[in-house]
Amino acid sequence: MTQAPSASTAVSLTRYLIEEQRAGRISPDLRLLIEVVARACKTISIAVGKGALGGVLGDAGTGNIQGEAQKKLDVLSNEILLEANAWGGHLAGLASEEMDTSHPIPDVYPRGNYLLLFDPLDGSSNIDVNISVGTIFSVLRCPDGVTQAQDQHFLQPGTEQVCAGYTTYGPSTMLVLTIGNGTHAFTLDREVGSFVLTTRDMKIPEETKEFAVNMSNQRYWQAPMQAYVGDLLAGKEGPRGKDFNMRWVASMVADVHRILTRGGIFSYPLDAKCAAQGGKLRLMYEANPMSFLVEQAGGAASTGRQRMLEVQPTGLHMRVPVFLGSKHEVETAVRYHAEHDAQA
Ligand code: AHG
Ligand code: MN
Ligand code: MN
Repeated sequence: MTQAPSASTAVSLTRYLIEEQRAGRISPDLRLLIEVVARACKTISIAVGKGALGGVLGDAGTGNIQGEAQKKLDVLSNEILLEANAWGGHLAGLASEEMDTSHPIPDVYPRGNYLLLFDPLDGSSNIDVNISVGTIFSVLRCPDGVTQAQDQHFLQPGTEQVCAGYTTYGPSTMLVLTIGNGTHAFTLDREVGSFVLTTRDMKIPEETKEFAVNMSNQRYWQAPMQAYVGDLLAGKEGPRGKDFNMRWVASMVADVHRILTRGGIFSYPLDAKCAAQGGKLRLMYEANPMSFLVEQAGGAASTGRQRMLEVQPTGLHMRVPVFLGSKHEVETAVRYHAEHDAQA
């Protein structure tokens, strides 16, 4: 049984951030930014937790720029994050899955040097059935000399992220965070109202026997993915020589959290339905922050053909194929792509 942190030894998110600031690894503004995002996520957690009692379930009756129907909680979570981050003076601009273009900081407030991108509610198809959802965020520096951030200023590869994280609203609410010095997990103490460090330096096992993919898309996949998953399914009798188990929550946050905790590979590959858009998942506020967290925990993240964090974004809502998780398993999936491309 793991030991619960006692009140005297518990490290709160606030204390963790102050110590990182003292060590010179984050600026006061970045510390404020993370505190503000964490506070907004606590508010979202309360709304998610109320469920039907809060009148927050169901469709908003609107759509986002990506042609997806918005849930009431997609819209509410976006508003909570926008409002919380508008006035602190730490940001030059924000961008979100739920907004067509980036959002400047209102003129009445001071502006800072950071850019914040977020998926306010990830896994929204799971809200109405009471399955874990989450919030994903990524922080970049605003280019020097830019005070009025516009879309093009956000288009930086994932290697430029200074911070990334997600919260998962599950049986407990957790915040998983990296500032480029390991990946750390905090659990929300609901009575006290603060996040407490519960796992320092998460480490993803390099090998795994578990994969996460939406198998219903199998017939739409391209040849290397067909070959890779075909060999996973062949199990002990196949070329991999071991049986694999499968899990798919359909909330990226929940699937990635499982992988950070016990290993595995997560994949949303190109398929015939999403090929024209370049993939299903979004680079800037889904794939990049998750890839940063996974790499910081010793895992790997790729499009299948390129390290995810080195992809040069061409638009705020750009989509990419995603393979991330246990290092050797991601390398194996990448090898299937390389061998296929070499033959073609
Ligand atoms: P979002 O709710 O932010 O649009 O993201 C949903 C994403 C991701 O969380 C999940 O892994 C994937 O979509 C599920 O896709 P399928 O429904 O196609 O399985
Ligand atoms: Mn999402
Ligand atoms: Mn979303």
